[in-house]
Amino acid sequence: MTSLVDISITVNRRPYLLSLPTNRIVADLLREDLLLTGCKIGCDQGVCGACTVLVDDLPVTACTTFAFELDGNSVTTIEGLSEDGQLHPVQRAFLDHSAFQCGFCTPGMILSVKALLDHHRDPDDLTIRQWLGANICRCTGYQMIIEAVRAAARAGAG
Ligand code: FES
Ligand code: FES
Repeated sequence: MTSLVDISITVNRRPYLLSLPTNRIVADLLREDLLLTGCKIGCDQGVCGACTVLVDDLPVTACTTFAFELDGNSVTTIEGLSEDGQLHPVQRAFLDHSAFQCGFCTPGMILSVKALLDHHRDPDDLTIRQWLGANICRCTGYQMIIEAVRAAARAGAG
């Protein structure tokens, strides 16, 4: 029998007190309990980056993280990035530069870009590629994504 653990967690600026099985994965907590389906499940093995969310502003793969590990932490999903009905500058840059096709990788990609720009306001191409190395896109060939990152940096997204 799986035991339960109580955690306190903030998701998209909203606080939660939850009692969860110790083996509850963050991706399942977000998608099934909180209905935040912008967190995508691709490989389910920590490889593709589709499930990336921000934990205290750093990218984390939600498919390989237990929910109890985030006790006391703050999580941001793609649903929490816009404010007051306005897209975040990184979201706007992805739209303006058509930096997606099927869109499956896009929520995780955008969150990784936000973290990148929070740490590097004007990243060079090598830094961009290093930060996005854990986010796989099978559609775009990455060039449009890199152009969107540059545009978001110019727009002061960091
Ligand atoms: S679904 Fe989590 S890294 Fe691929
Ligand atoms: S847009 Fe399809 S996987 Fe990236």
